[in-house]
Amino acid sequence: TNNPKAVIVIFGATGDLANRKLYPSIYRLYRNGKLSDNFAVIGVARRPWTNDVFRDKVKESIDNFDDPHIDKDEFASHFHYNPFDIQDLEHYQELEALIKELDGKHETDGNRLFYFSMAPNFFGTLAANLKSEGLTTTQGWTRLVIEKPFGHDYQSAKELNDQIREAFSEDQIYRIDHYLGKEMVQNIEVIRFANALFEPLWNNQYISNIQITSSEVLGVEERGRYYDGAGALKDMVQNHMLQMLALIAMDPPIKLTPEEIRGEKVKVLRALRKLNENEVDDYFVRGQYDKGMVNGEELPAYREGNGVDPESNTDTFVAAKLMIDNFRWAGVPFYIRTGKRMKRKSTEIVVEFKDLPMNLYYDKEHETKSNLLVIHVQPDEGITLHVNAKKGDYNASSTPITLSYDNNSEDKMNTPEAYETLLHDCMRGDSTNFTHWDEVALSWQFVDVIANAWSKKKADFPNYTSGSNGPEEADLLLNKDGFEWWDVK
Ligand code: BG6
Repeated sequence: TNNPKAVIVIFGATGDLANRKLYPSIYRLYRNGKLSDNFAVIGVARRPWTNDVFRDKVKESIDNFDDPHIDKDEFASHFHYNPFDIQDLEHYQELEALIKELDGKHETDGNRLFYFSMAPNFFGTLAANLKSEGLTTTQGWTRLVIEKPFGHDYQSAKELNDQIREAFSEDQIYRIDHYLGKEMVQNIEVIRFANALFEPLWNNQYISNIQITSSEVLGVEERGRYYDGAGALKDMVQNHMLQMLALIAMDPPIKLTPEEIRGEKVKVLRALRKLNENEVDDYFVRGQYDKGMVNGEELPAYREGNGVDPESNTDTFVAAKLMIDNFRWAGVPFYIRTGKRMKRKSTEIVVEFKDLPMNLYYDKEHETKSNLLVIHVQPDEGITLHVNAKKGDYNASSTPITLSYDNNSEDKMNTPEAYETLLHDCMRGDSTNFTHWDEVALSWQFVDVIANAWSKKKADFPNYTSGSNGPEEADLLLNKDGFEWWDVK
């Protein structure tokens, strides 16, 4: 078969991400026949677990899958545990021996996938030691998957990247942005480049503004210690939001290769209007949630959370107006918005088309609405086109109607999970849906200016109620341009 063969080595195997995302994703690939029998997983972490303990944890993580024809013990038998101290070079030799043994046993052709799913301050040491101890040299391929956060500003990201590049070349490095694994984010390109309908209108002649919202209902929960040093700008905007923006705004690539697509995305990031620190307030709004009622329950403010500074100046909400200064987009605002403890969990992209120069059907009673193309990323997956049509009445007046495609109802059970597709892509050597260093660098350089401006001025926090749509300033940001957020649900 063409299915990938590899020994997958997961550093941080006892962690939350491995449990919640990685093991279930490997299971789904296995169940869906996307993984050959030629695979093994080595869990690496500090705790002194045995293979049996590890396999039980793996089985627990897939507890809610009920596939009668799959033998979960057989699946779990591919998993091995290797207790490990990153500083201890002898442990690398033991790991090397185990990889070799499993490579022989499962006939994985010498292919190795290292997955760094742990605190990033260890990435440098780990990469360096893997190389010096010979683990990165093999007869098959060697690839590195690396989780966010990739640095906390441009400088730290660059240092991290330099360290990793000592041991792995750029084409061996797969930087995860899990939004790029989402079905509807991948669909942006298909919708844009497989339809004659949209591309001719996809520019400043016909589009008035574009809105990208990713809202969450959950607060920071147990991640206060990490989050309080990050905030929504670094946690969501630098990566997920700017990646979606790049896909929405890029020019058509000449081919669907990773290099060509990336090249076009990079051009968008380069065209992003750079701000001076004193302009930040005109383009960016920050927020932090206060207590409030969510689903009938009174929840505490961000500052009262675990691991959070009681006077924290950290943003849990960001709204911004971004300008892309190129021929296609000059003059078209891209509004982005993301936050925790908002009204609903949803990621949506709204493309608002300009109104006709003269609309014969405009009347106060049946107001004609602007045409919208809405891409629903989650929880619903689909697209909706908002158009105007005749209302079934005695008048020749128009009324807004919607044309919808709902991916959930079509194929709900089979939509792959983000991590599942990304792991599969990496094992096949397809880096299209991973972020290249150039993208990471440009995103941080853009975001750093905002972060610096904010760090110099204490915000008036908290400024939005839990369960709301964020601070009022986020609405004003659009209102002053004559627009408003489309709450299309
Ligand atoms: C992660 C952030 O990258 O994305 C989290 O660190 C955030 O803070 C999450 O909750 C959102 O992802 P999703 O897939 O639930 O929209």
